[in-house]
Amino acid sequence: MNVNQIRKQIPWIKNNKDKIYFDNAATTLKPKCVINKISYYYTHLGINIHNTDSTFCFDVYKKIEMARKTIAKIINCSPENICFVSGATEGLTMIAHGLAHYCKKAEVLLNDFEHASNLLPWYHEKQNGFFKIKFVNINGQFNKKTIIESITKNTKIIALTLASNVYGNSIDDYSKLCTQIKKINKKIIIVLDATQYLAHKWINQLRDIDFIVCSAHKIFGPLGVGFVYLKKDWITKIQPLRYGGGMNEIITKTKFQPYNNIQKFEGGTMPLAEIIGWQEAIKFIDSIGIKNIIDYEHKLKKYFVKKMSTIKNLEIYNPNTPLPIIIFNYKGVNAQDFASWLGTKGIICRSGLSCAKLIKNILKKENFVRCSLSLYNTKKEIDYLYKVIKRYKKGEEIRKIL
Ligand code: ALA
Repeated sequence: MNVNQIRKQIPWIKNNKDKIYFDNAATTLKPKCVINKISYYYTHLGINIHNTDSTFCFDVYKKIEMARKTIAKIINCSPENICFVSGATEGLTMIAHGLAHYCKKAEVLLNDFEHASNLLPWYHEKQNGFFKIKFVNINGQFNKKTIIESITKNTKIIALTLASNVYGNSIDDYSKLCTQIKKINKKIIIVLDATQYLAHKWINQLRDIDFIVCSAHKIFGPLGVGFVYLKKDWITKIQPLRYGGGMNEIITKTKFQPYNNIQKFEGGTMPLAEIIGWQEAIKFIDSIGIKNIIDYEHKLKKYFVKKMSTIKNLEIYNPNTPLPIIIFNYKGVNAQDFASWLGTKGIICRSGLSCAKLIKNILKKENFVRCSLSLYNTKKEIDYLYKVIKRYKKGEEIRKIL
């Protein structure tokens, strides 16, 4: 993997020479091919695909369907099983809404690693009188065993992130886990949030998974688009979230009939430029090789941890998790102040709980700095961070900010 070549493909890097971007878990930077393709849509294509009355329009429609096919590759599914949504938040809201009306008082099993997007849609439907919510009994450990042990005869839905955006742990044996869950009770519905996972690893085993969501912007694609994968049966069983043009077959004065396929969930005009832009992001990853990416990121994280561990006052909380996300504190210094101070040195990272507010129950920390790395980060950038932190003098963070 040639990092210098990759860096040349990311315009942000050239335009921000004095900055280092270590907030990739929040959103990744976009390669030129993605930006160009979005621009190409507006400059060359421009139309709405609901209009297929000319060959030109039909060709644009075919381009979108081609993009759907490419995007579906990242979870190894048929394009007929993914619908486009605005991102993981809308995706999980759609699933919670659909399942609330389908299985009403079901008990949902959640856990403390989840991002707000995989908590609040379930809480919201609970407030609407649906669902009961239960949490995995983590007991200091979060793994397949603790998940399995938390399942009771009342568990109907398990909603689970495949990789934490904060701790950097991932469930690589998700396939075994899902099979085990279905062995306990084949009616348990499994919802996987793959938003962080797919930036580093792709999914190839769908058996036993009912729903998957992700956002394009976390995997080098544009903002405002993501997908929901629905196992075939669910397409007809659950209600959509968006009602409008493009999702209905018949409308009379008293009723309507939604389509019986994935279009049912795609009411309204879709983010067409973003969809074809996303396709380019997948090609970009493919050209590097997802395996090369995770290998490189592993090395980068190891290097980061080794180097930073030599700084006496730096406490790293997740040195051994597989994803290139590192959370830490500088002893006795407020994380927000420290991250803002790093910001004054051109280092962009994030502090706080990064939308996964329950994680404090696991880590027993209210606040920390997060550096999340990606394929275009380098050892040189880590060296710079190291030098900056090494020179840090207590109190400097306040003086710099004030
Ligand atoms: N979920 C995003 C993050 O991890 C915003 O920072």
